[in-house]
Formats: sequence, structure tokens, C-alpha cells
Amino acid sequence: MLVPHYSRNRHAGGRGKILENSACLSRQMNPAHLRKLFKLDETEGIDILMNDSMAVGTTRTTTGRLLAHCLTLQSEYIGLTPLDRRKEKGQFFTPPEVCGFMADLLPSNLPATFRLLDPGAGIGALSAAVCDRFLGVRSSRRLQIDLFENDAAALPFLRKTLDCCSQAMRAHGHSMSYEIHAKDFILDAAASVFGSPSLFNEPSHLGDFDAVIMNPPYFKVTKSSPYASVMEDVVHGQPNIYAFFLAAGAQMLRPGGELVAITPRSFCNGLYFRGFRHWFFDKMALDRIHLFESRTEAFRDVLQESVITASHRLGKPSSTVAVSTSFGLDLHTARPAILPISTVIDDSCGHANIRIFASAEERAISEVVESWPHRFSELGLRISTGPVVMFRATEFLLAEPNGNDSAPLLSVFNVKPFQTEWPLIHKKHPTAFKVCRDSQRLLLPTRNYVLLRRFSAKEERRRLTASFLLASDIAQPFVALENHLNYVCHAERELTVDEAYGLTALFNSALLDRYFRTISGNTQVNATEIRSMKFPSLHTVAIIGRKVRQLASLDSDAVELIVLRELGINCDLSAHLLEGTLFSHI
Ligand SMILES: C[S@@+](CC[C@H](N)C(=O)[O-])C[C@H]1O[C@@H](n2cnc3c(N)ncnc32)[C@H](O)[C@@H]1O
Repeated sequence: MLVPHYSRNRHAGGRGKILENSACLSRQMNPAHLRKLFKLDETEGIDILMNDSMAVGTTRTTTGRLLAHCLTLQSEYIGLTPLDRRKEKGQFFTPPEVCGFMADLLPSNLPATFRLLDPGAGIGALSAAVCDRFLGVRSSRRLQIDLFENDAAALPFLRKTLDCCSQAMRAHGHSMSYEIHAKDFILDAAASVFGSPSLFNEPSHLGDFDAVIMNPPYFKVTKSSPYASVMEDVVHGQPNIYAFFLAAGAQMLRPGGELVAITPRSFCNGLYFRGFRHWFFDKMALDRIHLFESRTEAFRDVLQESVITASHRLGKPSSTVAVSTSFGLDLHTARPAILPISTVIDDSCGHANIRIFASAEERAISEVVESWPHRFSELGLRISTGPVVMFRATEFLLAEPNGNDSAPLLSVFNVKPFQTEWPLIHKKHPTAFKVCRDSQRLLLPTRNYVLLRRFSAKEERRRLTASFLLASDIAQPFVALENHLNYVCHAERELTVDEAYGLTALFNSALLDRYFRTISGNTQVNATEIRSMKFPSLHTVAIIGRKVRQLASLDSDAVELIVLRELGINCDLSAHLLEGTLFSHI
């Protein structure tokens, strides 16, 4: 039952109303519906007080009146625009809780004149949230906003949001001007700030912003796309459009200016974004990171973890970074930890990876792992991706094994923790691979291997899942490994059975899984990341393996206990990790 509680809204200059729910306002509340329900007029702001029953902790989360007005327009736009079309444009609108949080990350001392850039503005939710902040400032300010939006259908709604904002700003004694650029932010604007000056290139006025706030679109950009050539010096490989937005936003700031962005976490690690990270962090000092641990809570249709970052144009690099995490939209309850920049940005391998610790335990885990003496690649171990790409090898795929003329075909379905299950008879999946001269380049000699899945499913418990494949269990001289698997072998000799068991135990341990999550937000487990990870010595790995082999059954708690003991992990951390594995069974 909904029990409304009305009171005057101080945040919105006493003109809005606060609606307090007792139980059933959903997070995806529809302001139009709320207006009708509570008989509020169009111009009146809504503050929504969420209480404990909505699982947002004890902190009050409010939606300012201008943002609330924008949300009504956004709902109207969503009602008129099919989901497919919005997806095609990368239109995943920022939830109101996140808009408010991001606006609060902008400088606390708003200068007398403030120039804001909102690229990929959508219906203007982020700008509206910033304007809401100005409504709480007593002395007069001048706000200038430049917004970029290249979807013509969104523009009338965006204009209405901004008109409403400027009226409200004026009513509060501020002045505000805005310009909506109905243009492509990358092709029309970024090109002018990145391109070399020429007679035909007008000097751009798109610079010297005090702040940029953005939720850019996310989609992969092909090498042949016109986007790729605009910033080829900054983003290489298989870029994603959001990295172009971040780079262009950074380029358009004045020295000391601030950039607040919500993006996928994928730029934080991995080879594809390495060049981008170096370029970006040469220019920008990271001040704040907030990670959404759930891949679905903040943006239902985005499969990656999302991060909010706040950074400023150098000046001088920050010495510390405030890091917080929340499962979903309960982000106001998150307590940031202040960490040295060297703990967060790890450049020890020259990759400038960003590590995000969700808790003190995760920091402790990271300290343990990083104290190990060698990197994986220094142990003589080799990790590679399975060579078989199914759709390119259809001529060699066999529904059933055919003696020595075929090799077992192993893919992600065959790899369970500690167990390589083969053959798995499934109508849709081939189980074997033809052995012939033409298929030789795709086959591996039968040896002892450790197989590691390259992908985990969306909300899967573990990111790392490994099994061992022992030569003694396979009758055929060759195996075929599909490219959704990574495989580990020794570069110069056969892995011993103890080593194969030990490596599998390590990959399947909560210890390594939790560590891996701090360095990677991808569902993908890249061989590069494993190669540069610290690892215990092969001698210790073999001892772990020997003890694991002595177990009557490969129970995950018993294995974890062996791993923790042999690696000398202290009692508190061991208890924490074992509790995690116990709870995950319930
Ligand atoms: C993820 S949505 C975010 C919208 C809004 N800023 C928010 O936070 O709710 C990204 C927006 O960028 C727009 N967009 C996509 N590509 C663009 C481009 N190249 N230039 C300008 N806008 C673009 C989309 O139409 C969409 O409205």
C-alpha cells in the first residue's frame, strides 16, 4: 500500500513536494504516473524519499525537481520510441539516483561562471541534475551548457528540459544559456579539436569547459568506421565509441576542469584500451571511482559492469583516489576508501591497469597475490587461446568421434570446475574434429593441459573456471580446442600431473577469482591478463596439486583450504574466503 507523506521541499526552493513511500514505489518509478496519483501540476517538482523497504539503505535519495521534470519527458520519449531504435542509438538513460550522484561529484565550489559540456545528452537528465544543484546555491551564478545529441527524435524533448531548467534558474536569481548542437559529437566536434589546424578548420570554441558530464553511447567501432580515423592516435584496436567520448571530453576541458562519466568498466584493463589509458592519464588525474558490482542493476540492458569516474585535467596528478562500490543503485550508502594512486593504477607491467577494490578484504587479497615472486609468464608457463573457430572450421566438425581419424573437440561446455567432460553428446554441438593434413594447424598434440574458460555467463558466481586435461585420459594423439577456451601448458616440457592439478586448484580458488575481479570487469578472461598476473612458484603449485590429488573427492572447500594453507594465507583472510565459498553453495 502506498502511504504518501507530503512536506515542503527545501531542495527545490520550497516549490516541490516530497513523496515518501512505505513499500511499493518501484525504482523504475514513472513521474507522470506519480503526478497523476498525487495530483501535482506539470511544473511542480517531485522529491522521492525512499525508505528502507526499498533496499536503498538508510540514506535518503532525492530526485531534484528539474531532473524529475526531465524524467517525465524521458518517459514520454521512451513511450514513443521502440526499444530497438533506442538500443541502436546507444540510448540507455542514466537512472535518477546516478544522475544526482554524478552531479554531486562536480566541484563543490561552483565558480561565478560555469561552462558545462554534456555530450550525448539524450533528454538532458545529467544537465538537469546539475541545474538542480545550482538551485541550492544562494548567490547568483551564470551557467552555460553545450549539449550534443545526434538523434533528431530526442531533440524536442531535450529542448523542453533545458527550457524548464533555464526558467527555474532565472527564478532562483541565476542566469543560464544553453546551446544544443544537433550534431555528431565525434565526427563534427571532436574532429575539430583533434584534427590539425587547417584553413578549412575553424578554430573551435569547444574548449576550456569547466566541467564535462557524460553517459556516452556504448558500441564497438569497426576499423573502417569514420569514427576510427578521427582519433586513431588515441584509441586503437577494437575501440568502443565511449572511449572516443571520454577522450574528446578530456581534450575540451580547461586546465583543472573536471570530467564526470559513467561508462563500462572495460577501459580499466586489457590490451585494447592500453593506449587509451596512457593517453588519458597523461592528461587527466583520477580522483574518484565508483563501481557497480552488479552487471544488471544500474543498466538492465548493458552486459558489462559500469563505473563512474571523476577526474580533472592535470595540474598535477592526484596522490590518492577515492574508491567506492555498490551492488546497484544503493550508491549513496557506499563509503569511499581513500587509496594511494599507485594502488589503484598499476603500471608495473606498463599497462596502466585500474584495480578496483570493493572492500578491505579485496585489498588484502591483492596484497597477497602481488607479493608472489614471479609473473605467470616467468614460470615457463604458456597460456594461449584455443585455435578452433567453429564457423571457420565447419568442414572438420564431426558429430561423433571416429577413432584415430578424429580428435576430441573441447569447448566451453566441456569445462566444469576440475573436470573435463568429454564426449558430451548434444545434438547441436559437434564432439570431434577431423584429423587430416588440412586440419593439422588447428590441432594440438595430446599432452597435459589446464583449460580455462574465456567467458563467464552474465551473473555467474565465478569468473575463473578451470579443469585439467591429462594425456593419460585421452586415447587419440591430438586434441582440438575451441577458441572460447584458454589452455595452459609448459613452454619447454610436459606439465606434471601435480602441476596440472595445482594450477587448476589455483584458478578455481576463491582467492584468485576475487583477485581477478579487482583487476578486470570483463566477462572475458584474456590470456594477456593471466600472463601478467603474479603467481606462486611452480614448486608450490605442485605441492598444492599433490595434496589435492590425495583428496577423496574434489570438494571446493577442501581444495580452497589446501590452497590457502600452502600459500600461507592468514586466518582472517582464509576465514573470509572460506565463508564466501560456503555461502555461495547455499
Ligand atoms: C547512453 S545515452 C545517455 C543519454 C543521457 N545523457 C543520459 O544520461 O540519460 C547516449 C546518448 O548519446 C546520443 N548519441 C549517440 N551517438 C552520438 C554521437 N555520435 N553524437 C552525439 N550524440 C550521440 C544517443 O542518441 C543517446 O541519447
